[in-house]
Amino acid sequence: MKTRMLWLACAASLVLAVAQDTGTSPARNARPQGRDAAGGRGPRGGSAGRDFESTPQARDEAEKKILEVLNEMGRGGRGMMSVPRDDGRLLRVFAESIGAKNVVELGTSQGYSALWMCLALRTTGGKLTTFEINQERAALARRNFERAGVQSIVTVIVGDAHKELGQVKDPVDLVFIDADKEGYVDYLNQLLPRVRGGGLIVAHNITPGMADPAFIQAATTNVNLETLFLNTGNAGISVSMKKR
Ligand SMILES: C[S@@+](CC[C@H](N)C(=O)[O-])C[C@H]1O[C@@H](n2cnc3c(N)ncnc32)[C@H](O)[C@@H]1O
Repeated sequence: MKTRMLWLACAASLVLAVAQDTGTSPARNARPQGRDAAGGRGPRGGSAGRDFESTPQARDEAEKKILEVLNEMGRGGRGMMSVPRDDGRLLRVFAESIGAKNVVELGTSQGYSALWMCLALRTTGGKLTTFEINQERAALARRNFERAGVQSIVTVIVGDAHKELGQVKDPVDLVFIDADKEGYVDYLNQLLPRVRGGGLIVAHNITPGMADPAFIQAATTNVNLETLFLNTGNAGISVSMKKR
């Protein structure tokens, strides 16, 4: 009798294990729809946090001032081709978490993504050099930096970044590429030697329709880079870490 009870218990465990593995158990069905086992959304690497909202919380007056300017700029829509808010927040997280002191941005526009990075740089003691070919946009960005009180940590270089990159001092901790799409490979080639080991090269608009295939090839085949793709705000971002 004892042996028979033991056999039944083993059989029941086996059925439960198979049910869980095939997704028919209550535990598996309780997981939110569309999630993979790791809580993500499958092979394209969508944001696991997409079902939740978070808004930036100002810790002090200086941060509040920058966030207010960012909010005003955001209300103007994306007419200036600024990154989505969460992509900006991600840039801040990257810059602050690697303790970035020297950040380079290609494509300032009105300074929206730059301001997100400034939130990090005011705490890391870092500086941003940002390149913009359009004089009016560069002037608007400068006004926004002044309004946000970060003008002392940002240098705007007006001109063609491909020609002006010689002004960049190394070592660079973080590069953000968001200018002419066909120029991404040149930006990578020019700046990679000046990025420190452990530094990041982040590129925007990395979607099948927008990204230059030559850039994808360069970023994914260089043995000195660890590159992955994110889709936080639907615009597509590549993140390449220069190996130490
Ligand atoms: C997508 S917008 C940048 C948006 C900005 N990063 C943001 O999120 O707030 C691209 C900008 O790159 C600038 N640009 C394009 N080609 C450039 C070049 N060769 N050198 C410098 N800036 C360039 C454009 O004038 C435009 O303002």
